[in-house]
Amino acid sequence: MNDQFGRTITYLRLSLTERCTLKCAYCRAGEGECPKKSELSGEEFLRIVRAFTAVGIKKVRLTGGEPMLRRDLLDIISGIRAIDAIEEIVITTNGQHLAGMCAQLKQVGLNRLNISLDSLKPERYAEITGGGSLEKVLSGIDEALAAGFQPIKINAVLLRGQNDDEIDDFIALTKDQPINVRFIEYMPLSATDRTDLRVTGEEILRAHPALQPVEPAYAGQPSRDYQMPGHKGRVGLINPVSHRFCADCNRVRVMSDGMLRPCLGSNEEYSLKEALESGDDAVLIETIRAAIRQKPETHCFDSGFLTGKNMSHIGG
Ligand code: GTP
Ligand code: 5AD
Repeated sequence: MNDQFGRTITYLRLSLTERCTLKCAYCRAGEGECPKKSELSGEEFLRIVRAFTAVGIKKVRLTGGEPMLRRDLLDIISGIRAIDAIEEIVITTNGQHLAGMCAQLKQVGLNRLNISLDSLKPERYAEITGGGSLEKVLSGIDEALAAGFQPIKINAVLLRGQNDDEIDDFIALTKDQPINVRFIEYMPLSATDRTDLRVTGEEILRAHPALQPVEPAYAGQPSRDYQMPGHKGRVGLINPVSHRFCADCNRVRVMSDGMLRPCLGSNEEYSLKEALESGDDAVLIETIRAAIRQKPETHCFDSGFLTGKNMSHIGG
């Protein structure tokens, strides 16, 4: 269906859990262990996806927190796979728990993987992520490629002075493998906005004039895509602040507490809990329709926006 600004919403992001074992500098830094909170059950998520197909959702991305911490992840994926209208099931993961899982993920019908990776230097990776293992992510990527997932997208959040000296190393990953690297501008979620950390796409383009623009892989994608001549993979620039893409936004998100958030950068949320408890799918669909109609025209990252929730709650 279309929202009030004529955007067709076809992409649903499900944050399966707020739990994450990492504490990334721009996300859960300084937080304690994740408190135990109730999460929607796998069956509730499947009911939600079925209801969303009535409004035209075709693509589902599983996020978190870290979605691979859900014990019922494979059941959720195969449950979504069985829903005819869903054409694509994808996941965004930190890659810490990926090795050993790829064949099963392929088998239950996952289409693609995006992997968060902010440094290719082991010690720096551990520092930025609050203790993560680079080796685990890299072996997960190798296994995912061997299992036939492609393209694999690497999400690198650039932080000025912390990892922006690795841009060339990340671009080199796109040379021989079907790996796309996306450089993501730091977004002000939950913490005070650190504009000093933000590295814009324009800066990257100025420093890498060989990057050639290429057509987007799909309409409404957040990245502007480029390619180094002769490289297999793409280099994407995701610049929600300096180059906002709200006019083409095609997505909404549901979080593990049952709240529907039509826009990442706006605190407006709609509860699906009562509709779920009513047991009446028509009520659920009507709640979803009303929320999509109200999707904000644009996010508010450049006007002092702050949310009580960070990316580990919302799922990106
Ligand atoms: P593809 O389906 O492969 O195109 O993935 P994606 O880019 O939609 O999803 P992913 O989870 O990999 O997100 C990449 C980055 O884009 C993350 O930093 C997200 O937070 C950000 N992002 C995704 N959707 C939105 C959005 O609607 N608004 C904003 N501002 N950022 C978004
Ligand atoms: N700004 C930009 N990207 C972020 N991510 C998490 N928090 C932020 C932030 N504040 C990225 C993660 C992951 C994706 C879902 O969002 O690194 O790749």
